[in-house]
Amino acid sequence: MEKTSMFNNIFLVMEDITNKVMKSKYNPFYYHGALPQFIMYILFLSGLLLFAYYVPTIDNAYFSKNLVNAYTSVDYITEQIPFGAVIRAAHRYAGDAMVIFIVLHAIRVWATDRFRQYRWVQWISGVVLFLMVMFIGQTGYYLIWDERSLLLTRMTVSALAAIPFCGEFLSHWFMNGRTISNLTLSNFLFIHIGLSFSLMFALWIHYVRMTRPVITPPPALNYALLGMVFILVYLFPLTETKMANMATQPTMSEVDVIFLWPYQLLAAVGEYPFWIIMLLLLVGLCIIPGNIYGAKPVEAAEVVNNKCVGCRLCSLDCPYQAIEMVPAPADSRFKLLATVKAQRCSGCGVCVGACAFDAIDLPNLEDAQVTAKIKELIEAS
Ligand code: HEM
Ligand code: SF4
Ligand code: SF4
Repeated sequence: MEKTSMFNNIFLVMEDITNKVMKSKYNPFYYHGALPQFIMYILFLSGLLLFAYYVPTIDNAYFSKNLVNAYTSVDYITEQIPFGAVIRAAHRYAGDAMVIFIVLHAIRVWATDRFRQYRWVQWISGVVLFLMVMFIGQTGYYLIWDERSLLLTRMTVSALAAIPFCGEFLSHWFMNGRTISNLTLSNFLFIHIGLSFSLMFALWIHYVRMTRPVITPPPALNYALLGMVFILVYLFPLTETKMANMATQPTMSEVDVIFLWPYQLLAAVGEYPFWIIMLLLLVGLCIIPGNIYGAKPVEAAEVVNNKCVGCRLCSLDCPYQAIEMVPAPADSRFKLLATVKAQRCSGCGVCVGACAFDAIDLPNLEDAQVTAKIKELIEAS
């Protein structure tokens, strides 16, 4: 059995079981891409509320009583603002949930073989989205400006400085100067918020080749997800940490494995092996959409020009925007003619079903055969 189809079967079994437990309309497997998108809205809203009270400075003025800095402003949100602790914890756990759902979504599209060839744009933009989300989450941890933030900042600075040729520049960019200062935290806040908004642009690229991406889970699923985040908030309230003190050298203690695993790796292997492993991981993720797992070449749909009446139905139904309507030749009775962009076609056959004029076919597959295949699949499901 082919590697991907074995995983596909595992997913089909899990989906089938879920369909027996709940209505298929609410099956979370059918919203694997939409769930991280919904969590992003929770993050934007909770982040906005936190931003209202956050002060991005590291000033610790000998830890005086009325000190206002990043750490004390986060403490103020947690202790003084009504539901501040809940919003903070919801922001953190929603971030964790987003990463988990993104990874599940990526595994799902990989396992069901929906990532190759014409879908490479979705895959590569997905990898970029994943990196962005990871970096946004990590900068969130620097913003608290507790001992862990100081340790992570110092580790990042030394990891960046170790990069040949541009290391010094990158570490200075990261600190927004030559040392850690108030400007460093402004930079972290800028990265955290700026990259969050940039997710919208990256998502546009992610969706641009899909005609009808499923981006909204049903409200019941959204409420359930929100409920789960609040259960986590209740079960695992955020614990108090110590303010960063530049004169001390904090060590690695409790870290969030979801966002901060790269730091555990960095601490374990050191800077150079860390960058080599990261680079290999990135290259590995980017070349997956190539044909390395033995992709079957897709045979694109073909239009029978003299039968096409230019009704557009195929182009409206094609899920991958692979059909373009072009002006029909001068001797035609019709205005438009369908043409298939072969490099985008998945050979799914939707257009064959959409055309009432037998004017579009899959090579080596008569439309009667396509209809029979669809019936077979419906009966099997
Ligand atoms: C912020 C993170 C992400 C969000 C919100 C997101 C969202 C989505 C959505 C809504 C779809 C359409 C699904 C459908 O209509 O069934 C989709 C498709 C897709 N995503 Fe993502 N995605 C994210 C990250 C990723 C990552 C990390 C990867 C892989 C590395 C990835 C790879 C893909 C692929 C290949 C498709 C096309 C699947 C198909 O054509 O059926 N995405 N994504
Ligand atoms: S087979 Fe038809 S509907 Fe499917 S991707 Fe190709 S052109 Fe679009
Ligand atoms: S549905 Fe058929 S007739 Fe209509 S534009 Fe497409 S190929 Fe032509």
